Amino acid sequence: MTSAAAETHERIPTAVFPDNQAAVRHVADAIETLVRERAAAGQPAVLGLATGSTPVPLYRELIRRHREEGLSFAHVITFNLDEYYPLEPQHPESYHRFMREQLFDHLDIPAAQIHVPPGDLPRDEIHAACTAYEQAIRDAGGVDIQILGIGRTGHIGFNEPGSGPASVTRLVTLDRLTRADAARDFRGEANVPRYAITMGVGTILRARRIFMLAWGRAKADVLRQAIEEPPRDTVPASYLQQHDATEVFLDAPAASELTRLRSPWWVGFPEWTTPLTRRAVTDLSLKLSKPLLKLVDKDYQENGLADLVTSHGPAYDLNIRLFNEVQHTITGWPGGKPHVDDTHRPERAEPARKRVLVLSPEPADDILAMAGTLHRLVQHGHEVTVAYLTSGNLGVPDAEARWAAQLMLEANAAAPDSLARRVLDELARKAAFDQDSADLRRFKGFLRRSEARAALELCGVPAPNVRFLDLPFYESGTYRRFQLGDADATAVGRLLHEIQPHQIFTTGAAADPSSVPAKSFAAFTTALGAAADHAWTKDCWVWLFRSDGREWPIDEIEMAVPCSPDELDRKAQAIYQHRSQRHQTPVTDSDSAEPWEQAVDRNRATAQLYDRLGLAEYEAIECFVRWQPTADTSTSTSS
Ligand code: GLP
Repeated sequence: MTSAAAETHERIPTAVFPDNQAAVRHVADAIETLVRERAAAGQPAVLGLATGSTPVPLYRELIRRHREEGLSFAHVITFNLDEYYPLEPQHPESYHRFMREQLFDHLDIPAAQIHVPPGDLPRDEIHAACTAYEQAIRDAGGVDIQILGIGRTGHIGFNEPGSGPASVTRLVTLDRLTRADAARDFRGEANVPRYAITMGVGTILRARRIFMLAWGRAKADVLRQAIEEPPRDTVPASYLQQHDATEVFLDAPAASELTRLRSPWWVGFPEWTTPLTRRAVTDLSLKLSKPLLKLVDKDYQENGLADLVTSHGPAYDLNIRLFNEVQHTITGWPGGKPHVDDTHRPERAEPARKRVLVLSPEPADDILAMAGTLHRLVQHGHEVTVAYLTSGNLGVPDAEARWAAQLMLEANAAAPDSLARRVLDELARKAAFDQDSADLRRFKGFLRRSEARAALELCGVPAPNVRFLDLPFYESGTYRRFQLGDADATAVGRLLHEIQPHQIFTTGAAADPSSVPAKSFAAFTTALGAAADHAWTKDCWVWLFRSDGREWPIDEIEMAVPCSPDELDRKAQAIYQHRSQRHQTPVTDSDSAEPWEQAVDRNRATAQLYDRLGLAEYEAIECFVRWQPTADTSTSTSS
């Protein structure tokens, strides 16, 4: 498709790359060109910098060019977008510290040329400091290149919904979703500062060039709004449309909701592949609130699908074909129905008794996505093993650890130098933001283990079939800064060889590359790739569930497992066993506060979509997409 066609929908020039590394190289090239040109002319280059996990790969690439290719930043002046308030610069989660660790400590920028908004001023000095920050940017000649990420609320910097295009550097109150997204960094939402100092949207728009970067499917919705819908206060990033030198750089999952990828029939004449046809027809049915079998030629013609109905119609034929396809995704037999014709079933019938391996990045991911399916698999006699790739100990609030340690002492099970005693002593000493000791992390890991076991027991998975890999990347890292090593894939590989599964359920394929699910998925695919010569891999199917609080789009679902009202109740109870995660799961747009409510709502919503398409009306549905190493689920497109 031509980029001109895409531009009729995209109001900001947008480049889509197969992965974030390719995108990062492009942005690093632009920065390098600027820095070298200015250095040659004896002038400074002014960079506007962002925090968050998104720019980290870019910073690594700049550090690499500095170290290996002699790119000097001695003439670079930097201005960071924002800082939490109130927060000391030494705090482990301050953006001052983040920038030092991720970039400044590794480059040759003189300290006097680095600017980050202050987070530790008395309140009555903030206004003057913000005015001075704006002045310092002007004195430096203005920002040449501004790097931006985007928050799930559509914020840039910390300009939350409600920030207008003329806003300047100021103190702001953080949105609930933003604080929930930061909860893991701060080990609990209660520890996340309520305020921040941020450059305004107007400050950002004064930069000469702006590059906005985003990775992973969780940002896809808000990116579509920012790029394709008219600018408005509720999505501050949409004001970038008013800037004539802004470019957006996305990986394929982040771009997946853009019209040219999601509904390409609006921007040209696409090839009507089976998945695309399914998307077009299900979208049409839902948009018109008409069951699939009631769509008529006119519906197709009036809704951008004249080409489809002309080349593959009439409507009745398309409707029947699509109805059958969607119908065939539904199965009460997630491990395959033994001894029957499986031509139109999502899973194969044989072997009748399968070895099933569930790889859950953290405890609870499995239960939230597939407690009902797990229960069925066990009921149907499959040999189900659930392996937790990471301990999840970073997600346990101190209060939960204190509760458990006190319980142990209460039961008189703890000697004076016991772990429980040491944990209680540490908790009494430590301030809310201090890093946990190895002891405390181990203890928090135990807590999650017992929660996971209790949840799985309700699903019928026997205790010996529950494994905890405690992958090293997680144990030695912190959120947004995990680094995968060889030992991670080796540990997953060992488990694969031991189980030799026929069926694997996992997640993380289209997640933000810095997230725990994405790192876990990378460890898994590396391990599976290394096992490619082994016979068992030829008969192993991989099913993906979502772990980002959302569900697969209806047209992508390849296996839909209905849950009865009783099964849904059991699922809620199983999720409830993960008590340390109550109030901890990243909030979605749903109003339901608790993880079990959100998960159950999502499963009900999927069932309602099937119902609206004119299929059977179930209470709830859990759903999966099949993944194959050769045909990744992500679309590789670049413009
Ligand atoms: C924070 C920062 C933003 C950043 C956003 C997204 O809110 N203030 O500048 O864009 O997080 O973070 P991430 O890149 O980790 O998804």
